[in-house]
Amino acid sequence: MSLPAGPKSPKIWQMLQWITTPFSFMRGCSDRFGDRFTVSLSQNLPPVVFFSNPQALQVIMTSDDSELFDSPGDLNTLLEPLLGTQSLMGLSGDRHRRMRQLLMPPFHGERMRSYGQLIRDITEEVMRERVAGKTFPVRKSMQKISLRVILRAVFGLNEGTRYQQLERLLATMLDRMSNPLSVSLLFFPMLRQDLGPLSPWGNFVRTRRQIDQLIYVEIAERRTHPDASRNDILTLLMSARDEAGEALTDAELRDELMTLLVAGHETTATAITWALYWIHKFPTIRQQLLKELQALDGPLDPGVVFRLPYLNAVCCETLRIYPVGMTLFARVTKSTVELTGSSLEPGTVVIGCIYLAHHREDVYPDPDEFRPERFLERHYSPFEYLPFGGGVRRCIGMAFAQFEMKLVISGILSGFELALTDSRPVRPVRRGITSGPSPFRMVAC
Ligand code: HEM
Repeated sequence: MSLPAGPKSPKIWQMLQWITTPFSFMRGCSDRFGDRFTVSLSQNLPPVVFFSNPQALQVIMTSDDSELFDSPGDLNTLLEPLLGTQSLMGLSGDRHRRMRQLLMPPFHGERMRSYGQLIRDITEEVMRERVAGKTFPVRKSMQKISLRVILRAVFGLNEGTRYQQLERLLATMLDRMSNPLSVSLLFFPMLRQDLGPLSPWGNFVRTRRQIDQLIYVEIAERRTHPDASRNDILTLLMSARDEAGEALTDAELRDELMTLLVAGHETTATAITWALYWIHKFPTIRQQLLKELQALDGPLDPGVVFRLPYLNAVCCETLRIYPVGMTLFARVTKSTVELTGSSLEPGTVVIGCIYLAHHREDVYPDPDEFRPERFLERHYSPFEYLPFGGGVRRCIGMAFAQFEMKLVISGILSGFELALTDSRPVRPVRRGITSGPSPFRMVAC
């Protein structure tokens, strides 16, 4: 079949570039081949066609599960060793739809807003641990905040030995999974060799086992002592029944909990870390944000903070310039699809590229400049600005992540004075299947 042009370099070289330098790889391809090109990204995927034109993205994002496109979960198996085979990300069709319906409500509306004070308190608690005059790694602190928030939402836990063990083990495992060596384990299954607890895969398997044990003990305890008054996500999932009246099995519960913990923690921490970098790199942006916060009367009300226009613009620009999820999940054509001049045969794997869509000169003039005002000056369509994806696989944590970002940033800015420790530019790098800033430190003044 004839696919749009793309690099002719060997498949393994393209994969290595995608793993180690994804941003320059995507930029290089779009400079050479325009806004559609074909690349090889992984051993278990056929060649993949990237699109970043808003018209093409509109078709891809609005035709899921139609006669044009499918969004099969078995193309999203990169994180399966971590999330398990029943994870929402790996499900397709009706099972996927039903599981989304179960998992979405806690991350929206009243239920989401009830976490406002908790997010505030956790931010304060973690930031108070910083000692004035001593530098600290920003990502670690933001991860601590987002992990505590999501653990609390998912399990309703925030103290006790089991909670502390889970927090420690998850933080260690997710941090390790983001270094380039461990990322290779995800992309190259043949490297997954258990050569003892010190080998990367051996270590991963043992930590995962410990985490699973803690989760299964928690599930067993909840089954023995059900408490209908609890409103955490685990309680909700345990009481859910499918059309045949069947409850989720322990393995299904474990995989969904793990999915929410992983997807909900790393991504949000990255977004907040980037935002703190931009805000402190450009003093005028910080001043403008402080002015907006100081104009509010009395203690910061989460609902009011959520709607602040300049804070919103800063968060949007943060997620535009280096989107944490660089692409949408892959889709597959079900019939012959005409897409902005390309005729794609049935079975073609297509990826909407968030990063390239966010860097189109015609939509975002000077796309490499961090300029929050662009979000005050005009409105962008969901096919021009799409940090949370779209269609049947749109991020279920979108509202929750934006809420958390705004509360953590406003809490830090209004309670603490921070500064970057040096003026070296921070670069975007791969972190597992997502991207984030290269490590940097700040200091509490
Ligand atoms: C700034 C933070 C976040 C960003 C940038 C982000 C981004 C994304 C993106 C781009 C997708 C793929 C969408 C698509 O292919 O159309 C996605 C999917 C997903 N996200 Fe997020 N996300 C964030 C936070 C969260 C949070 C807080 C949660 C949960 C609590 C979450 C849970 C999920 C899940 C479960 C999926 C898979 C959905 C499916 O397969 O149906 N994410 N996210």
